[in-house]
Parts: sequence; structure tokens; C-alpha cells
Amino acid sequence: PVPDLDPSKLIITRSESLKPIPKPEDLLVFGTIKTDHMLIVSFDPATGWSAPEIKPYGPLSLDPASSCFQYASNLFEGLKAYVGPDGVPRLFRPEKNMARMARSAERLALPPFNPDALLELIKKLVIVDKRWIPNATGYSLYLRPTIIGTRSGPYFRNGTKPISLLASTENVRAWPGGTGSHKLSGNYSPGFLPQRVAIKQGYDQILWLLKDENGSYQVTEAGIMNIFVVVSREDGDLDLITPPLDGTILAGVTRDSVLALANAHTDGKLVLPGIPSNRRLHTHERAFTTADIDHWLTLGRLQEMFSVGTAAILAPVGRVGIKDLKGDIKDLILPSYEDGIGPLSHAMLQMILAIQEGRENFEGWSV
Ligand code: COI
Repeated sequence: PVPDLDPSKLIITRSESLKPIPKPEDLLVFGTIKTDHMLIVSFDPATGWSAPEIKPYGPLSLDPASSCFQYASNLFEGLKAYVGPDGVPRLFRPEKNMARMARSAERLALPPFNPDALLELIKKLVIVDKRWIPNATGYSLYLRPTIIGTRSGPYFRNGTKPISLLASTENVRAWPGGTGSHKLSGNYSPGFLPQRVAIKQGYDQILWLLKDENGSYQVTEAGIMNIFVVVSREDGDLDLITPPLDGTILAGVTRDSVLALANAHTDGKLVLPGIPSNRRLHTHERAFTTADIDHWLTLGRLQEMFSVGTAAILAPVGRVGIKDLKGDIKDLILPSYEDGIGPLSHAMLQMILAIQEGRENFEGWSV
């Protein structure tokens, strides 16, 4: 364990130019007037929480790649300070906010901290900025404790070694009426903790599900990527199936490219490497469930499963852990291939790379 928050290490640097305090008759608009000081503590996984600092209020300087900007790995609290008739500052039930803040940090996989220590530090800040607490009934000083993620990002693995997925029935990535189909930062950080849990249980990524009206679990996405299954048909052709863009699925550029390339192969516009030109690929944007995966596997029809995204391009899936009725995890094992990657996954990866790297041309995709 690394050092926790330590109020005894507090360094106070007072502002040399104190701002004018608004007069009681001034119109106070929420969030528009800032006090003279702020409290800052930073966390490093190697060295823990730094010495806390109270210093003049001002902007932060951050790496644009910080996870708070990319994946909205942020949380906040809101509580108020009042001054009593005795002139003493008071916080209203601050332990509640501290406890909730610790829970929020845990949920976003942000570093843990001692809530009592943070409260002690906040009290110090309130005392430093005490002159800002309005001494009039109906007025207060609003405090905004905030944690922002400045480092960790989502995890993915490159390469053709198959990944394993843990189907999650506890956490949901996207839901009807939600924001899952948009490329929003806020869609990513809620997946950080489930991802960590998956790794602890021996899987690479979460398989995100959505319970449908029949109580079946629809497959939606894998980790931070779209998902495809390759299912053989009675007529010898292949079905290439991915969930539809129904508002819960990110409209991935690689997802769209895989569908287009499969259609182009079937229409004779190109030949995917290693796939016979007369092997027809039928693309479907339609829902399928974990029960379908289990069923196709039992029938010996599930040939390949892979996830796609810009960063990793394509990752073959080798194993899917799903919960059975008793809540035990049962592993579904996908067919294995010599190089780890099935023929269609391999063909798609090679074709996309060839177009991206300018060795092949397709419909003006390379700009
Ligand atoms: C990508 O695959 O490029 C994505 O945007 C996912 C990202 C979180 C790595």
C-alpha cells in the first residue's frame, strides 16, 4: 500500500492578492464567484498521495491526453459551509459527502483515500477562506471537491492471440435512451472498474450485455470495441453478424468497414485474402444473445468471434465466460486456429491493414 492522504503534511501558500468579497446586495449567481484558495493533492501509483497543498485559486495545467478529458474519469461532491451566530464556520453533514466521494472513486477505479483525512483538509481550506462564507441567512459557501483522472486509460491488447471475454450481468455499458451510440467520454470510464474485475477473474475484457424483454442477454459490445460472430449456414455460406445500431451500439468505423468488405467480397468487388471468391458472406446487423452463442457452439456452427475498433483494429475472441442459472461462470470455448486467428478474422485484419497502409485501394477509403 502507498501513502494515504496525510493532513499533517499540509503546505499552505496564501494568496498575495485577495479578491473583493461580493456585497450582500450583489446578485450572486451559482458557481460564478470563486474564493481565494484551493486545496490540491495528487496521486501517483508509485508514491501514493502527495503532500496536500492549499494555494491561490487558479487554472490547472494538464496533459491533453489525461483520462479526464478522454474518458471522463471524473467525480465531484457538493457541500456547503455556513457561519453561525458565534462566527464559527460549519459544514453540513460533510461525512456523508466524504463517504459518497470514496464510493464514487471506487466505482471509477480512481485511487482510494481516507475520507476523514480529506474532511480534515477541507476544514483547513474553509478556515483559510473563512471570510468568504456569507454571514447572512440564506447564503453559504459552496464547496466542490473533485477528483479528475490524469493517467490511466482503457486497456486493450494488440495482436492475433485470442482474447477472453467475461460476460457481465452486473454492469451495463449502454441502454435504450442512453448515450451508448455516441462517442462520448462518459461512456468509457464507467467500464474501467468492470474491466479490472474481469482481469482479476482471468479475462481480458468485459462482454457487455443488455437484458431484452424476454430476459435474454443481448450481446452489445466487447470492452471498448464492437463485436462480430461468424456462423456457418446449412448452404455452406457464412453469416457475419453484429448487433444493430439501435442506439446502444457505437457506430464504429472498423465495424462499418468489416461489413462493407464482407459485402464487397460477396458481390465480387474484391477477394478477401485466403477466402475463396465463391465463399459467400452474408452480413447481418441484428441482435443475438449469449444463449445464441451457446447454441451455435453446441451445433458446431460458431466459427469465429472477433471484436473491432480503430486502436486495436481486430482482436479474435477465444473464450467467453457466461453465468449459468446458478450464477457460476461457465466458459464457452471458441474453435481454435493455428495462428490463433480464424480465417475470416485474419482476412479482415489483413485487408484493412492493406488498405490503411496503401497496399490496396478501396472506394476512396484512404484519404
Ligand atoms: C478505438 O478503438 O480507437 C477507440 O476509440 C477505443 C479507445 C478507448 C481505445
